[in-house]
Amino acid sequence: MNRITVSSPSNIALIKYWGMRDEQLTLPNNISLSMTLSQCVSLCTLAPLHSGTPDEILWRTREGTLVPANASLRFGIEYHLGQLRQHFDHWQPLRIATSNSFPTGAGIASSASGFSALAMAFALQCDQDCDAARISELARLSGSGSATRSAFGGFVQWPGDARQLAGPAQPFAPAQHWPLCDLIAVVDARHKKVSSRQGHHLAASSPFYRTRLDLLPDRLNTVRQAILNRDFTALANAVECEAVEMHMIAMTSQPPVFYWQPTTLALLERVRQLRGEGLQVCTTMDAGPNVHVICTAQHRSQVFAALRSLPGVVRWIFDQAGDGPRRLEHHLF
Ligand code: DP6
Repeated sequence: MNRITVSSPSNIALIKYWGMRDEQLTLPNNISLSMTLSQCVSLCTLAPLHSGTPDEILWRTREGTLVPANASLRFGIEYHLGQLRQHFDHWQPLRIATSNSFPTGAGIASSASGFSALAMAFALQCDQDCDAARISELARLSGSGSATRSAFGGFVQWPGDARQLAGPAQPFAPAQHWPLCDLIAVVDARHKKVSSRQGHHLAASSPFYRTRLDLLPDRLNTVRQAILNRDFTALANAVECEAVEMHMIAMTSQPPVFYWQPTTLALLERVRQLRGEGLQVCTTMDAGPNVHVICTAQHRSQVFAALRSLPGVVRWIFDQAGDGPRRLEHHLF
């Protein structure tokens, strides 16, 4: 069987993509910036089936069994597949299996890793040139903007060129430049009730959205400089301010969207205390209640020791800055 398997990482946004200029084409209203992760990955295996047979879309459970994908995963994959087929004019039926190393749909960007993996596997299947910029553009066809950034490792900006909104993401520093850690506090592993897509749609209804867009260019610059200079204090202040602001936009949208839970807030507060005590640590949250605790490798053990007994965290995931997608020689089926 002619199988292709790709492993692709998730990423955590330090400057958030929130709100779209064009919902059909998935074009953002602002430049976002993320750190690619290394442990939170999606695997995607695909293989051609005989013409005339329906696609088979499978999910590999944590126990290692392959089961039919649930309705929401199936819907996302079928949509992306439809776009990729049209793009490549390649219509061969496929058997596709995916798996995640982390909770799905809970604000840990499973769509970023999942769709970038599918984009790369599909392009390889069509024997196409697979450079990362191309994967980034193909990943956007899924409707998940954050997937464009997962095509690269390290610190990544999307769009890479501000004048080219439909263009690919672009890396500006490799993971090795500053191997920051991300301790992910899973507060709730269930699928979030309001999707990012709905959140993007509602963003402009917040009376504060325009102000946010005006503030972002300076903040982007601050975060970029902080990364290039490895200046944790500057990074922490800008990244926390950014995450709170994105959630404030969600909370003041009409209707409002509240992703936070009491434990989310407890973690934010505790991390601010730890920073006050001299540890290099800060928080950020995507569209979900889970908290990404970003810290330097040097302070990681102390940070975890201080947070591990906080009630309400159902699981900790230890991650760090990592590289982009890669092809694997072992397969899901
Ligand atoms: C808050 O539409 O890319 O994570 O596809 O559901 O992961 P999903 O989301 P997407 O929006 C991402 C929203 C965000 C911020 C970000 O990652 O930039």
